[in-house]
Amino acid sequence: MTDLWQNAMDHAVALAKKAGSLVRDAVQNDMKVMLKSSSVDLVTKTDQMVEQLIIDSVKEKFPTHSFIGEESVAAGEPCVLTDNPTWIVDPVDGTTNFVHGYPFVAVSIGFAVNRKLEFGVVYSCIEDKMYTARKGKGAFCNGLLLNVSDQKEISQSIIATEFGSNRDTEVVDKIFSSMRKILCLPIHGIRGVGTAATNMCLVASGCVEAYYEIGIHCWDIAAGAIIVTEAGGVLMDVDGTSLYIPDST
Ligand code: IPD
Ligand code: CA
Repeated sequence: MTDLWQNAMDHAVALAKKAGSLVRDAVQNDMKVMLKSSSVDLVTKTDQMVEQLIIDSVKEKFPTHSFIGEESVAAGEPCVLTDNPTWIVDPVDGTTNFVHGYPFVAVSIGFAVNRKLEFGVVYSCIEDKMYTARKGKGAFCNGLLLNVSDQKEISQSIIATEFGSNRDTEVVDKIFSSMRKILCLPIHGIRGVGTAATNMCLVASGCVEAYYEIGIHCWDIAAGAIIVTEAGGVLMDVDGTSLYIPDST
């Protein structure tokens, strides 16, 4: 069993590299931008093509495995996490960055068995940084071991967050009121690179102390979640309870 997941992880790393190289090439070219839930929720042909490539390859190599992917769910596939080995994929995390040529875009592949994450792979493809973690075996970036920050004082911290793609006034107000409270603690600063997966990898790397976001999806955080925990971090919901990788958006 153990070897099987290692095979799957090796395959995920290879797929992330291939996908990342397609994404890098596509950044140079004109792209057709389409809209999903709102005028700021963007998707491109590259997002869809990369997800299809990952699905096809996983189906061929691991025909019994299940799949949850951002673009498949957008196209009407169910978003249900079962006990079956499941690949949880965001083919292009940071689509807005991708569209604008802002240099942080990641391919994010999480893998869960019995609803528990076994490994995560986040390839920050413009920076060429491959983040990986396997349950019980630590988290790495390009082969170097990662550890979360040991800073205990929030006033000495940098906190990452994002604005998401909901522009309803109440949601935006909530985002700004939380940011205001945190900033005025005070903390050293607030950052956010435009991809949830990469923000989580920055937590795992210890250069930001925490990352939070209102309204995140399972494909944004599945891979990053195990990378953070394997680097010694914790995940929690807003009420302090442990964060469950959800089975619906
Ligand atoms: C988005 C990015 C962004 C976060 C959004 C996500 P996408 O993913 O991770 O940083 O704020 O909540 O949906 O749409 O670029 O894959
Ligand atoms: Ca995406």
